[in-house]
Amino acid sequence: MKTIYLDNAATSFPKPDTVSKAMVRYVQEVGAPLNRSVYGSAQEAELVTLSLREQLKRFFHFPERATHVILTPGNTYGLNFVLKGYLRPGDHVIVSSMEHNAVMRPLLQLPEVTFDRVPADRDGFIDPAAIPALIRSNTKLIVMAHGSNVSGAVQDAEAIGAIAARRGIPFILDGAQTAGHFPLDFQRFQLSALSVPGHKGLLGPSGIGALLLTDKFAKALSPLIAGGTGSASDSEYLPDALPDRFESGTMNLPGIYGWEAAMTFLSDQGIDKLRAHELALTKRFLNGIRNIPHLRLCGPDHTDNRVGVISLDFLNRDNAAVSFELEQRFGILVRCGLHCAPSAHRSLGTFPKGTVRFSLGYVNTAADVDAAVAAIRSLV
Ligand SMILES: Cc1ncc(COP(=O)(O)O)c(C=O)c1O
Repeated sequence: MKTIYLDNAATSFPKPDTVSKAMVRYVQEVGAPLNRSVYGSAQEAELVTLSLREQLKRFFHFPERATHVILTPGNTYGLNFVLKGYLRPGDHVIVSSMEHNAVMRPLLQLPEVTFDRVPADRDGFIDPAAIPALIRSNTKLIVMAHGSNVSGAVQDAEAIGAIAARRGIPFILDGAQTAGHFPLDFQRFQLSALSVPGHKGLLGPSGIGALLLTDKFAKALSPLIAGGTGSASDSEYLPDALPDRFESGTMNLPGIYGWEAAMTFLSDQGIDKLRAHELALTKRFLNGIRNIPHLRLCGPDHTDNRVGVISLDFLNRDNAAVSFELEQRFGILVRCGLHCAPSAHRSLGTFPKGTVRFSLGYVNTAADVDAAVAAIRSLV
């Protein structure tokens, strides 16, 4: 049985062929460290890393220099670096009720840091106009997921950024579900930091991500990790220069090579083309399930401000049994449960039951969507 991968919100699959080729080439033919040695292959690794930073800078309309594109071990790390490196006891934070645990768990670890959640509606959208009433004199950050990994709703980051800028509060965006799926503009959203994973819509390998920092925000951020940077080796203190200040230790070079190849693929395709493809598939999916009984769509029934993450509650079935049968009987791979976002499920009214999540990727086709809709119809 052919399998149909519909779990792209967890991680994208398959990756473009150039990704694994670049990773294998690094391991077999380059093998040099970054920022340490100056022989030819080390210089090549340096240039590929610079190309990755430059590509991310262009892709997200990042106005700072490529030095301010920090490569991280992943999106969760980037969000931890921001929350734990910036907030101090007594600070207050505004989040949405749709956050992933990559934001909520580090926030809850911070002593004497309080937060308010902007409530989302039953589709997962927040109203940015609800933010000003939550701002206090000690509000130090607004942190939000751009796109929900449960409902697919994409928040109005431009409106939130305008409020944050008016009140002088740094706005941090978790781009996990929108990077590579939805236009994301650092400048237009007036961000202080953007954290993205390499392995989801940006089509790279796992174990790598990026944190894009304005110079002002970077200066206010304490590095959580300290160690060798290959620079300023005469000092036992971390250098001030970026990216080194936030990139201690030997970097994930197979990951850098793979992600650089993925970014080249994405730039060649263009975000508009990828988005149009995903929108067409999402529309087809939503149309296909609209009149199926005993099924609740937990998210927007339209394609405005939405990514191709479609959560369903099978009202007269056990959702876990449905996902199991989707694989066993139809070869369709999805994710069931609470998706590391309990508060999002509370907002959508699906806590603690959870949902069956179908998430589309650039390689999915209309036939994949039709097969999923037919399977859903027979499973209700
Ligand atoms: C909205 C959101 N934020 C954060 C994360 C964490 O990303 P990662 O697991 O790649 O570190 C995810 C992953 O699913 C996510 O969907």
